[in-house]
Amino acid sequence: MKEKTFHITTFGCQMNEHDSEVMAGMLLEKGFTPVKERKDADVAIINTCSVRDNADKRFFGTLGQLKHRKKDDPNFLVCVCGCMMQQQHVIDTIKARYPWVDIIFGTHNIHQFPELIDNALNEKKKQVEIWPDGGEIVEGLPAKRLFESKALVNIMFGCNNFCTYCIVPYTRGRERSRKPSEILREVRELVADGVKEIMLLGQNVNSYKGADGVDFAALIYMLNEIEGLERIRFMTSHPKDLSDKLIQAFVDCDKLCKNIHLPVQSGSSRILKAMNRHYDKEQYLALVEKLKTAVPGITMSTDIIVGFPGETEEDFAETLDLVSKARYDSAFTFLYSIRKGTPAEKYEDQIPEEVKHERFNRLVELMNGISAEKNAAYVGTVQQVLVEGPSKTGSKTFAGRTDGFKLVNFRSETDMTGKLVDVKITKSNTFSLEGEIL
Ligand code: 5AD
Ligand code: SF4
Repeated sequence: MKEKTFHITTFGCQMNEHDSEVMAGMLLEKGFTPVKERKDADVAIINTCSVRDNADKRFFGTLGQLKHRKKDDPNFLVCVCGCMMQQQHVIDTIKARYPWVDIIFGTHNIHQFPELIDNALNEKKKQVEIWPDGGEIVEGLPAKRLFESKALVNIMFGCNNFCTYCIVPYTRGRERSRKPSEILREVRELVADGVKEIMLLGQNVNSYKGADGVDFAALIYMLNEIEGLERIRFMTSHPKDLSDKLIQAFVDCDKLCKNIHLPVQSGSSRILKAMNRHYDKEQYLALVEKLKTAVPGITMSTDIIVGFPGETEEDFAETLDLVSKARYDSAFTFLYSIRKGTPAEKYEDQIPEEVKHERFNRLVELMNGISAEKNAAYVGTVQQVLVEGPSKTGSKTFAGRTDGFKLVNFRSETDMTGKLVDVKITKSNTFSLEGEIL
């Protein structure tokens, strides 16, 4: 039989990115070959995100593009998976409007993907496998990393927080933590395979509960002992669960990068309450101060939602005020997007789109000014950079990240991909730094 080729399109967060790495790993084990362009693939996989409406729309747009290809070539296999598949209304739409989709599977069924492909090829009939919630964590699945030197490592799955705007607890199920022994085994294997940096993933890593009472901070201390591992990062951290022990880990663990993603969502205590976030503006700012005092030079990023139902101009002014006090290095800013089945869907006072956009623009302008100022302070310093590969900014330029997760484009005569190098920062931009290798 001719070797089959595959292409994966990934929408959404790093969890999804990692799920795609696992699917790629499983297909490689089956002898399939990856291709760069979807049009050249025998098997097309679309890994979906449902966190905001625009990701939904892009999914259906992408799926629509595949219709003709499928018509011309009935052997072309179309697989859809990820968060959107955990919503019944999406499944109903796919079945009604895109009946030619071959395989549909949910976020808890990734381990079954090879079997579903075999069944689809042998039985020539649609395969649908969606569990409403996660069972036992399936260990030992292969993964094909996007980068040689850095890896995404899941430490837990699901979320129990039910922020009122968020679909994730419904699409990823309840919190389940991997055993520390499994995480350590995986990281040791990755390091033996050339990995220098790991990114620990979980919707809320701070509520990690490993076997034998190992909490998140304890896990960091254990990982910090792994020889050959150079950098540890994690995301995402819910402010309500960030422990003093974790702050101490930043001080004690040399491999833990001095960078934290700490989503605030809003600066208004009233809105935070309506969002079910379990902290107020003052508590959040006190936590930021505590981190900055204990870990000098720590860089910080956040997520902010603009236009949550009921957000007044005063509430939004609180967000601007919080941002100018927290002085983040960067922020991911989002327009509130109604999600079916979440409590906030039913809230009155949904904010008109034009008001959301106008506030959004003001927030981005403020944030960009802060980012640019923060980056300017790095000019003249020497930063250790883990090189990710050639940069898009020019020939003999490479891109990598500092310990604080700043993107650096730098000139180098030799390709140092995968290595930790010292770079002298010569210029700063809003979203990146530039420099010369030393
Ligand atoms: N609308 C807009 N942004 C959202 N997020 C989650 N749900 C929504 C929504 N319904 C944002 C939050 C979260 C990030 C991953 O996505 O800021 O931290
Ligand atoms: Fe969504 Fe809140 Fe859970 Fe994050 S903590 S995934 S925002 S419900």
